[in-house]
Amino acid sequence: MAVTSSDAASFKGDYDRASEVKAFDESKIGVKGLVDGGITQIPRFFHKSVCDDSPVLRDAQFSRIPVIDLGSLSGDSLRRREIVDRVREASENGGFFHIVNHGIPESVMEEMKDGVRRFFEQDNEVKKEWYSRDFSKPMVYNTNNSLYTSPSADWRDTFTYRMAPDPAKPEDLPLVCRDILVEYSKQVMKVGIFLFELISEALGLNPNHLNNIDCAEGQLFFCHYYPPCPQPELTMGATKHADMDFLTVLLQDDIGGLQVLIDNKWIDVPHQPGALVVNIGDLLQLITNDRFKSVEHRVLASHLGPRISIASFFCTGVIPTSKLYGPIKELLSENNPPKYRETTVKDYIAYFGTKGLDGTRLLDHFKLTKTE
Ligand code: OGA
Ligand code: NI
Repeated sequence: MAVTSSDAASFKGDYDRASEVKAFDESKIGVKGLVDGGITQIPRFFHKSVCDDSPVLRDAQFSRIPVIDLGSLSGDSLRRREIVDRVREASENGGFFHIVNHGIPESVMEEMKDGVRRFFEQDNEVKKEWYSRDFSKPMVYNTNNSLYTSPSADWRDTFTYRMAPDPAKPEDLPLVCRDILVEYSKQVMKVGIFLFELISEALGLNPNHLNNIDCAEGQLFFCHYYPPCPQPELTMGATKHADMDFLTVLLQDDIGGLQVLIDNKWIDVPHQPGALVVNIGDLLQLITNDRFKSVEHRVLASHLGPRISIASFFCTGVIPTSKLYGPIKELLSENNPPKYRETTVKDYIAYFGTKGLDGTRLLDHFKLTKTE
């Protein structure tokens, strides 16, 4: 059961969902604009429709999302091995972990969150200039990336910018946060390259393997603004999904609401001061032939807010690249035959474009069918 009866009605046309969605999109005011306008009843196209009613497991949160300390590593091979072991364990199980002592100064992380907030809180007329759904642009602001394809809209606005390949030029980026967007992206790229080394080692591969096959070739930033919601029980901040990239590095503030689905239970991913959240994306699950897990997660809507988060996706997105990704040969054996067909990143993302956040797994579409 994926759709409740009242939500199903919304697709049967007892109200004109399509025109309401279109009018909302064309207003370019975003969810924040609705909240600023004093809305008390959320529009029906925000009512959640994807089934995500697994129980929430509150007490186990700290034991389930490991915190991995990357500090004081240089030259100490024993310590590096310990860290690689922890990365392996986390990537094989929950797919999510925190990193601390990752090298990004706290001041940069704070300024990044402040910069994102400044963008969303600037004058609407200035902000509207960036509004678009053309993701080939280096910088795009809108509400709900998949507004027209997902069965229900989420209570958040987002701006997306690309720093690799074909990076946004400074003048492509909004003045209110330009400098920090560039600075933060440089810092996250360093962390990402290092994480791909650790993950390569965790797979028993040469440390440069994942960087050599260009897992860090693409860098997209999704900067989210989750306004406070008057009826949080009716909608989602982010509908459950898995990330369509190799790896995500997330910076979140202390409002809370992010949850990850482990063993059919929702586990909170609490704010950890100074930490970044790392999670394995679908493309890494695909190339590791299911060894490392891209795990579903969601963000609850809340009376509290705004909540700000910045997801850095290692992914080339819609930019055409010719490279084919399939299960890594070195990881395969007679007992571990390939489970997925090869795909370009662009084709993987394009498939998402056809279905939106509908609660199903994108990866399944790329599975090889059993031949025996
Ligand atoms: C995402 C995501 C979580 C958050 O952007 O894919 O899951 O906390 N974000 O905003
Ligand atoms: Ni995500």
